Amino acid sequence: MKGIILAGGAGTRLRPLTKITSKQLLPVYDKPMVFYPLETLKAAGITDILFIIAPSNSGDFLNLLGSGNEFGCDFTYEIQDSPDGIAQAFLIGEKFIGNDEVTLILGDNLFEDDFSEAIDSFETGARVFAKKVSDAQRFGVVDFDDEFKAKHIEEKPKNPKSDYAVTGLYVYDNTVIEKAKSLAPSARGELEITDINNLYLEEGTLDVRLVNGRWLDCGTMESLYEATTMMREKVLAKK
Ligand code: TTP
Repeated sequence: MKGIILAGGAGTRLRPLTKITSKQLLPVYDKPMVFYPLETLKAAGITDILFIIAPSNSGDFLNLLGSGNEFGCDFTYEIQDSPDGIAQAFLIGEKFIGNDEVTLILGDNLFEDDFSEAIDSFETGARVFAKKVSDAQRFGVVDFDDEFKAKHIEEKPKNPKSDYAVTGLYVYDNTVIEKAKSLAPSARGELEITDINNLYLEEGTLDVRLVNGRWLDCGTMESLYEATTMMREKVLAKK
């Protein structure tokens, strides 16, 4: 299983902070944000990791993370020239993924859960993780039938059919590369991860699990502040 940490993007909602650095390098209490998704992958036993980063501040990622040696990992880097969508990760990462399976995590997503079992037991198709939220319009939203089987996923719907957001951790078999190649950009000009997930759903191979612990996407000032508070509480509780 290979890992990709997607740490490009524009970070417009965090301006002016992101005028001078990348969102994923901003501090979340005592660590740069990107350390958290890295820890999530490492905890699940994934150490062969590709960072996809934007051209600006790419040197800072190298300074911070290096070869991966210090983290007991093997790091590779690729540049995403412009933020053309999360699903573009599988085109940029095609060579890195090779014939393997791949877990993608967004560089601004913080999870409390340990995904070892979910990733170890993965065989084929796709596995994604949903969480009940109060602001579903911001996310890909999955709605379920009476047996809690996923029916459909909608990207940032105005009127969400459920409160379940698809979080930023996705496990895919190797067909994700071909699926990404088949996508056309959406109305907002991006290759959408929701379109990939719907292709698996149509095939009947999308497994949706629930996230038990807390999950934060640090894309807004409010969620960044919340994440900082949460991590501070965790650090202080350990002292
Ligand atoms: P978003 O939060 O959707 O986008 P963004 O980071 O560009 O922020 P904003 O909307 O405020 O301008 O992205 C989620 C994560 O995915 C984040 O870690 C950045 C990353 N990302 C990329 O690396 N490339 C992309 O093309 C996109 C869309 C996101």
